[in-house]
Amino acid sequence: MSQVVISILFVIFMVASSVTEARKCGFPAIFNFGDSNSDTGGLSAAFGQAPPPNGITFFHTPAGRFSDGRLVIDFIAKNLGLPYLSAYLDSIGSNFSSGANFATAGSTIRPQNTTRSQSGYSPISLDVQLAQYSDFKTRSINVRKKEGVFKKLLPKEEYFSEALYTFDIGQNDLTAGYKLNMTTEQVKGYIPDVLNQFSSAIRSVYKEGGRSFWVHNTGPLGCLPYILDPYPMSSADMDNFGCAKPFNEIAQYFNQKLKEAVVKLREELQEATIVYVDVYKVKYTLISHARKYGFEKGVIACCGKGGKYNFNNVARCGATKIVNGKKILIAKSCKAPSVRIIWDGIHYTEAANNWIFQQIVNGNFSDPPVSLKMACHDQL
Ligand SMILES: *[C@@H]1O[C@H](CO)[C@@H](O)[C@H](O)[C@H]1NC(C)=O
Ligand SMILES: *[C@@H]1O[C@H](CO)[C@@H](O)[C@H](O)[C@H]1NC(C)=O
Ligand SMILES: *[C@@H]1O[C@H](CO)[C@@H](O)[C@H](O)[C@H]1NC(C)=O
Ligand SMILES: *[C@@H]1O[C@H](CO)[C@@H](O)[C@H](O)[C@H]1NC(C)=O
Repeated sequence: MSQVVISILFVIFMVASSVTEARKCGFPAIFNFGDSNSDTGGLSAAFGQAPPPNGITFFHTPAGRFSDGRLVIDFIAKNLGLPYLSAYLDSIGSNFSSGANFATAGSTIRPQNTTRSQSGYSPISLDVQLAQYSDFKTRSINVRKKEGVFKKLLPKEEYFSEALYTFDIGQNDLTAGYKLNMTTEQVKGYIPDVLNQFSSAIRSVYKEGGRSFWVHNTGPLGCLPYILDPYPMSSADMDNFGCAKPFNEIAQYFNQKLKEAVVKLREELQEATIVYVDVYKVKYTLISHARKYGFEKGVIACCGKGGKYNFNNVARCGATKIVNGKKILIAKSCKAPSVRIIWDGIHYTEAANNWIFQQIVNGNFSDPPVSLKMACHDQL
């Protein structure tokens, strides 16, 4: 072959590989913001460990997660070849060299005007998570300039711009209004304020240098026992799969507005890639076709203490009672969490989280339709 032919083949090869291989983003770190759907130990570090049997399936001990095992964020980290994320608030055994998790169970986007003991919501709302992230970034960069043990546990400066920023938050902003006895119209009325504050959060990360965003919408909360149990519905308000339609409608309304907010942010933040992931659709598909995908009992919680949905708000999963001076577990796990969808009436099982992750990883439910590994690109 002549030199020319070889050179041409080489150019063709380079071009071909640049449209396939070279396009992978190679995220060196993940920074996550959210609520219990993605909390890997934040609330546990601040307010007490998630009790057993949380963690039984995978970690074989409570591991800061409200699930029997891993969450979608854990499968995201694994898929990107990164370790499971340490919670920013967790001072024990944490390693932040590949990112940090700012999510806590019960977090809302908007700061609430009630305390955690009054309403159960975490005081670490999204604005606080952002403040923590910003301080984490500044201090990591300073500490890494000094030699010493901490250098090995913190991300490199360039990771802050190269990282994937993931968000899964909003569900608690919706339930917060209902807890204050607001009507659906009143809840709808404050959604624009919630989304303005969400957009501000994305803008702040962009200002700090973040460019790749992976945003989960909110799930079908009308299919969760912690909603179904305290808000009984008329049969006309229930769908064929045992979910409460009005609550799913408000979740979908929120998601539609979230999607609009993301479209606006894309116009404004020219260098950002913001992927919107329709987790609602995936979770609802799973619940509505449970048998087809190898799962049982739809919306019934696996871990709990009796009632129509195996959910009792005063004896949630892991609740104990003292009998003859001995602590015994009264809200236990079901026998086979691996075939169940709902873990404790609020959160999903590891098996369901894994299934959900498998659906979203390839970009099938994303807008733009890019896969997780390509989430630094606006299009394919
Ligand atoms: C922290 O995590 C990084 C990346 O996964 C790893 O290379 C390193 O060995 C870990 N450091 C410690 C002290 O465990
Ligand atoms: C808390 O109160 C302030 C002042 O009245 C109000 O502006 C804000 O919207 C309230 N927040 C929530 C979550 O209701
Ligand atoms: C909401 O209504 C219930 C039932 O009437 C009542 O017990 C509760 O105190 C009310 N909550 C608030 C925050 O007003
Ligand atoms: C994407 O989703 C469609 C239906 O929603 C399904 O038929 C298809 O197999 C999925 N593709 C992949 C790669 O999972």
